[in-house]
Order: sequence, then structure tokens, then C-alpha cells
Amino acid sequence: MQTLQVDLGERSYPIYIGAGLFGRPELLVPHIVGRQVAIVTNETIAPLYLEEVKAALAGYAVTSIVLPDGESFKNWQTLQQIFDGLLEARHDRKTTVIALGGGVVGDMAGFAAACYQRGVNFIQVPTTLLSQVDSSVGGKTGINHPLGKNMVGAFYQPQAVLIDTASLVTLPARELSAGLAEVIKYGLICDAPFLAWLEENMQALRALDQAALTAAIARSCAAKARVVGADERESGVRATLNLGHTFGHAIETHQGYGVWLHGEAVAAGTVMALEMSHRLGWISSAERDRAIRLFQAAGLPVAPPANMAPEDFLEHMAVDKKVIDGRLRLVLLRHIGEAVVTSEFSREILNATLSADYAALVDRLNHQ
Ligand code: NAD
Ligand code: GLY
Repeated sequence: MQTLQVDLGERSYPIYIGAGLFGRPELLVPHIVGRQVAIVTNETIAPLYLEEVKAALAGYAVTSIVLPDGESFKNWQTLQQIFDGLLEARHDRKTTVIALGGGVVGDMAGFAAACYQRGVNFIQVPTTLLSQVDSSVGGKTGINHPLGKNMVGAFYQPQAVLIDTASLVTLPARELSAGLAEVIKYGLICDAPFLAWLEENMQALRALDQAALTAAIARSCAAKARVVGADERESGVRATLNLGHTFGHAIETHQGYGVWLHGEAVAAGTVMALEMSHRLGWISSAERDRAIRLFQAAGLPVAPPANMAPEDFLEHMAVDKKVIDGRLRLVLLRHIGEAVVTSEFSREILNATLSADYAALVDRLNHQ
């Protein structure tokens, strides 16, 4: 097992990473306050892991709140189901909410914990690769609005993050690939040697080699913990974690939540951000192509959907959270391992990026 720390003063918390951690109550119990625990999960994960996690909570009054599964349920109605479950079982202010699931469950359970009786204790138990390397760490919680992804929410840090890498054995391969998009992101924005490691180890990761997974998750969480520790509320460097997300969120919103997985949209969106970085004269075509090949090796899409015109992107990107005073800011790369957040680009470069022929670019690469 590896233990990392997110350093946020008195709100600091540990991240435990390893295979078989659901069977280690001594990791969970010290982070529970009071005698009441509410496990928020969904109908896919409940039959797989709910009993195992409950078994670690002997002696507590445990309520299970089982939500419908899917990004399309990350909304007010489902959030209300969590409050209904908490109130029906008379949970008080000393309740601990445990989020057992992927990023959708984690974001919603965290938002519910932030709001319920003005804030109760909260623990993240992420079960997808994406949630293990990204969404469970850093305290971003919330729901979608029909007009934009994650537009309603709160910063609310958990007391602990418990990552059992063995839970990934039941994860569909497409979801594993989606998580790899966020893993690759860390290499691109701040850890060039990690990118080289990923090139060497991609097959082992996709084959669920537990040692490789633990190493990749720990390296990713260490990067995220560093960034969050330096800029919890995203007034600066934290925005670099959104490489590819402005383009990606536009894809997710336009296609309908859940049609493209978040990680898939991030992969295609990152290729667009790399193309723009190249057009600005920053990264070379070889650096862009290297990243595209790695996304392909991870089983991810590397071109935006054919049904999206530049104006579709512009419409959705206008409501991005990085827009300030009407000015769009994007995360771009100066080099592999060096990201910047900037609004210093011309409308022409942005338009050229949005109308570039990505299918042809990828086709050329595949035939080289
Ligand atoms: P998800 O939560 O929808 O999970 C993907 C699918 O896998 C679901 O069907 C889920 O039920 C299933 N699943 C989960 N664990 C499983 C397991 N161990 N075995 C079998 N099936 C399993 O998707 P996700 O990719 O984990 O998260 C995406 C969400 O995370 C998006 O809403 C995104 O906006 C959010 N997100 C948040 C942050 C943040 O900082 N808060 C960061 C990145 C992404
Ligand atoms: N996933 C982006 C962030 O946590 O800031």
C-alpha cells in the first residue's frame, strides 16, 4: 500500500492506494465521526462492492443510498434522492457520507455532504480509474446543468480517499481507457518522465497489472495533490488540470451527457488543445503526434465527433468556468510537461483549431 497526503493545513487528508484495501477497516474507521454512516453508491456498484464496504463498518448504523447509474443522472433529481435517504433514516450532523463509486457518485455524494445540514463528514472510495486518479482528490463536487457540465457545486474536501485498485477488475475496458485519459494528462501538464513511463507500461495498465496500476495511480494522485495543495480554489495552477477539458466539455454537452465518456471527450479535447499549442508555435508536431499515439495506445478517441461544427464548440465553450469577463481562457502546452492557462491567442488560431481536419491528421499518423 502507498499513502499520500493532500496538504491543506487543518483540512489535510490521506490517500490510501493498494490492492485489497476494502478489507482493511482500520484505514476507514479513524476518519468516521459519530455512529451514523451513509454509503452513497449506484445500482451497478452496489451488487459488486457494497457488502464488502459495509462489512468494514461493523458497529455503525449504516444507511445505503443506491442511485441510478449514469452521467445523465448527475442532476438535481438524483441529488434530492440522497437528501431523501439521509432524512428518512434521520441522519444527524455527525453523519459520515461515504461515496462508493466513480466520479458521478463521488461528485454528487460530495455535494450532498457539503450541503446536508450545512456540511457533514465525507470520505471518497473511488472505484473507477478516472475517479481514483482525479475526481476523488481535491474536493470538487457538484452536478450538471442542461446548459453546462458541473455548473452547480461546491469545493468540499473529503476526510480521506481509499483506493482499492482491485476494484478495477470489474470495470469495463472502455471505462478503464477513459481513466487513462486523465492519467496521460498528468504526464502532459507537469511530468514528462511519467509520460515516457506510460509509453512503456500502457499494455500492463490495460491488462490490469496491479503493480503498474498502483504506480500510475500513485504518481497521478501525487501530481494532483501537489497542484491542489498549491491552489485549492483554482485561482491559478489548478486550472492546468483542465487540459483538453474546455473542448471536451463542449463535446460531452453537445453529444448529450453519457454518450461520450468524460475521459473520451478529454482525450479528443486534449488533441485539439495540442493542435492549438502547435499552431501557436509552442509544441512541435512530433510532440503532438507522440501524445496522439499514446491516447490511441490507451484505446481512446483522438478526433472530435464529426457532427460538431466550430460554432457548436464556440457556443458550449462560452459557458466554460475558465471564462472570465467574457474572455475564454484555455489550457495549452508550451512543451510536454509544461502547461499554461492563457487567453493570449487570436480568434483566427482558435477558429483554425476548431475547423482542423483531425480525421485526416490521425489517418496520416496511422500510415506513417
Ligand atoms: P462514472 O462515475 O459514470 O463511472 C463509470 C461507469 O463505471 C458507471 O457505469 C459506473 O457505475 C461503473 N463503475 C464504477 N466502478 C465500477 C467498478 N469497479 N466495476 C464496474 N463498474 C464500475 O464515470 P467516471 O469516469 O468515474 O467519472 C466521470 C465523472 O467524474 C464526470 O461526471 C466528471 O465530470 C467527473 N469528474 C470530476 C472531477 C472532479 O475533480 N470532481 C474530475 C474529473 C471528472
Ligand atoms: N479535475 C480538475 C480539478 O480537480 O481541478
